Amino acid sequence: MSDEKRVAKLEIDGKSYDLPIFSPTAGPDVIDIRKLYGTAGVFTYDPGFTSTASCDSTITFIDGDKGELQHRGYPIDQLAEKSHFLEVCFLLLYGELPSPAQLEDFESRVTNHTMLHEQMQYFFRGFRRDAHPMAIMVGVVGAMSAFYHDSTDVRDEWQREVASIRMIAKMPTIAAWAFKYSIGQPFVYPRNDIDYASNFLRMCFGVPTEDYQVNPILSRAMDRIFTLHADHEQNASTSTVRLASSSGANPFACIAAGIACLWGPAHGGANQACLEMLREIGTPDRIPEFIARAKDKDDPFRLMGFGHRVYKNFDPRAKVMKQSADEVLELLGVENNPTLQVAKELEAQALADPYFSEKKLFPNVDFYSGIILEAMGFPTSMFTPIFAVSRTVGWISQWKEMIADPQMKIGRPRQLYQGATLRDYVDIEKR
Ligand code: ACO
Repeated sequence: MSDEKRVAKLEIDGKSYDLPIFSPTAGPDVIDIRKLYGTAGVFTYDPGFTSTASCDSTITFIDGDKGELQHRGYPIDQLAEKSHFLEVCFLLLYGELPSPAQLEDFESRVTNHTMLHEQMQYFFRGFRRDAHPMAIMVGVVGAMSAFYHDSTDVRDEWQREVASIRMIAKMPTIAAWAFKYSIGQPFVYPRNDIDYASNFLRMCFGVPTEDYQVNPILSRAMDRIFTLHADHEQNASTSTVRLASSSGANPFACIAAGIACLWGPAHGGANQACLEMLREIGTPDRIPEFIARAKDKDDPFRLMGFGHRVYKNFDPRAKVMKQSADEVLELLGVENNPTLQVAKELEAQALADPYFSEKKLFPNVDFYSGIILEAMGFPTSMFTPIFAVSRTVGWISQWKEMIADPQMKIGRPRQLYQGATLRDYVDIEKR
């Protein structure tokens, strides 16, 4: 919302410029600098976008200081407890919780798009068996534009809708097949008579020779992992999707760009890195050594699963995830799992250490998600693909919001140039 009366005053070399201030429905005010270059001839400088709002959005709100996350106004802990992933998908995509009839229709539309074009399996088979499933996902999702031409025209609202449903529906199949391919097992086709999370578990752990019975507690935990990761405002991968699509690129290519960004260990790859770190620590007596390394300025080591660009308090998703970890491990009879013991002790020791409290470093969602996924039987290489399955709806909701925005412009940041100034070319024999 704009408040025309409020302006920020900027003075440069004795000249003053008025910059409008906008007040959001929640969160800090925003200074509108869009005309700054045109009027004052200067750019703003903000590598890492720590103080920059890149768009208007009505989807997700985070209060990092309080540790709150809301989708369309609904707190994540209520959604995790009372809702389920496909209902949250509807909420993110269309703005409101669905009526029973709307939910039934949405679930049926998603369910009826879970199968992949049969030709796509040859695409999978072109990868090396030891390829990381994220590498396969980047490739296969990008290739969807070659298989589903009829939903690549971003100016057509109907095609945008079909592409959205297709991606939410097919992403679990793609991730499960990337896993199956890596372990040399046959692809398991999706089934329409079981829910989204159960279907994913069945495609990952089922084999053609036996019936696979999905454990409802594991299916509920899987659904909760999907729900907790569904969207997270303008994070790195979402901003990547928005920037890629600002050029009008097709949605499959843009989501593939988001998956590529998610892969990094500072973002979606952190759950894999966190579990590997917990295993490396191995026993609680080695925790002080690792905490000392994390605090040492000359050591690049960081406590994975700790810290967040936005949360300067507990990540609200981490609280739910910790509770889920306890439930799942108890169900599986592995509550004395050594990795969980290390995680709990590490969390306690880090929270008691002034270094972490002064820098406001708290456990993030990735601290416990890896422990649950490992207990369910997933290898670490599948952690980030599962994150990608969950986040697809967030990327798509943000993409749809952007495309429908009449103010949409191609994203084109400027720079603080520090290179050589104009000089003449020197012929090679004179160098
Ligand atoms: N361990 C030790 N020190 C840390 C950690 C950590 N995990 N995270 C931040 N710090 C320290 C930094 O060294 C820095 O200290 P300084 O001010 O003395 O130089 C200070 O805290 C601020 O760190 P920045 O890197 O500037 O914070 P930023 O907001 O850029 O980074 C990030 C956030 C990337 C998440 C960081 O906390 C990190 O690397 N964490 C570990 C990786 C991780 O868990 N990522 C998952 C993020 S959640 C997600 O993607 C779902």
